[in-house]
Amino acid sequence: MTSIPGPIVLVTGGTRGIGRACVEAFAASGAKVALCGRSADAAEGVAREIAERTGATVRGYAADMGNSDSVDALVKSVSEDLGPITVLVNNAGITRDGLLMRMKNDDWDEVLRTNLNGVFYCCRAVSRGMIKQRYGRIVNISSIVGLHGQGGQSNYAAAKAGIIGFTKALAQELAARNITANVVAPGYIKTDMTANLGEDVRAKLLDRIPAGREGNPGDVAEAVRFLASPQASYITGHVLCVDGGLGM
Ligand SMILES: NC(=O)c1ccc[n+]([C@@H]2O[C@H](COP(=O)([O-])OP(=O)(O)OC[C@H]3O[C@@H](n4cnc5c(N)ncnc54)[C@H](OP(=O)(O)O)[C@@H]3O)[C@@H](O)[C@H]2O)c1
Repeated sequence: MTSIPGPIVLVTGGTRGIGRACVEAFAASGAKVALCGRSADAAEGVAREIAERTGATVRGYAADMGNSDSVDALVKSVSEDLGPITVLVNNAGITRDGLLMRMKNDDWDEVLRTNLNGVFYCCRAVSRGMIKQRYGRIVNISSIVGLHGQGGQSNYAAAKAGIIGFTKALAQELAARNITANVVAPGYIKTDMTANLGEDVRAKLLDRIPAGREGNPGDVAEAVRFLASPQASYITGHVLCVDGGLGM
């Protein structure tokens, strides 16, 4: 098995849910991991807890993915503290659901700013170092909503579809530098983001999932970890659905 070249991983939005499961998975495989969230207290607290429990090097940072200066500062701090980033997982995301006719400009802007602009800012900031190293793995978290749409989530669907096109363009730009860029598109995963779905919506969704269950954050993290590994060197520009068959 090829050894991971100095695995230094940045997971955006690693304080909870899928991001946190990714941090745990990378920490368990011996990587040095940086995570961020909007609050320094939360990010540092989660990092400390995982580091103490596992013995891994895990650092937490405050950053707003929707702000390019904040993202540049994050990437600079992580690189200074841990070394050049070899793996980027763009996971941070929010929802502001509503039917189109009632959707406020703010709901649109905030979702696009965080979910799509943030991916652009972070890939741009990290890819400079990856190009220098001639190595890198970028995994961007989209959603099956970005592939199939979802009524009441036009802002979220636009951002998540945007991530797919963006990642394919990036994959073409970076492939010759030994940098891959892929998308993981989760289905219905049990996290804070889906905790407020009504029982009826949940039951209807479960009914449509061939696997017969909702996904766990760890199901997504394992797919991310594979695409982020040296072994996945010939996979780029791919969209990997982790959805129990929901998108079929
Ligand atoms: N759960 C699902 O069913 C599902 C399905 C498909 C795709 N996804 C995608 O998977 C990703 C993770 O979702 P999740 O379910 O784990 O969500 P979650 O539990 O709500 O966690 C969201 C994470 O994003 C961070 N975050 C939000 N806005 C941020 C910002 N402006 N700057 C930095 N960090 C920010 C949050 O950190 P703080 O709150 O600490 O700031 C938190 O760590 C998202 O991109 C989501 O769209 C989820």
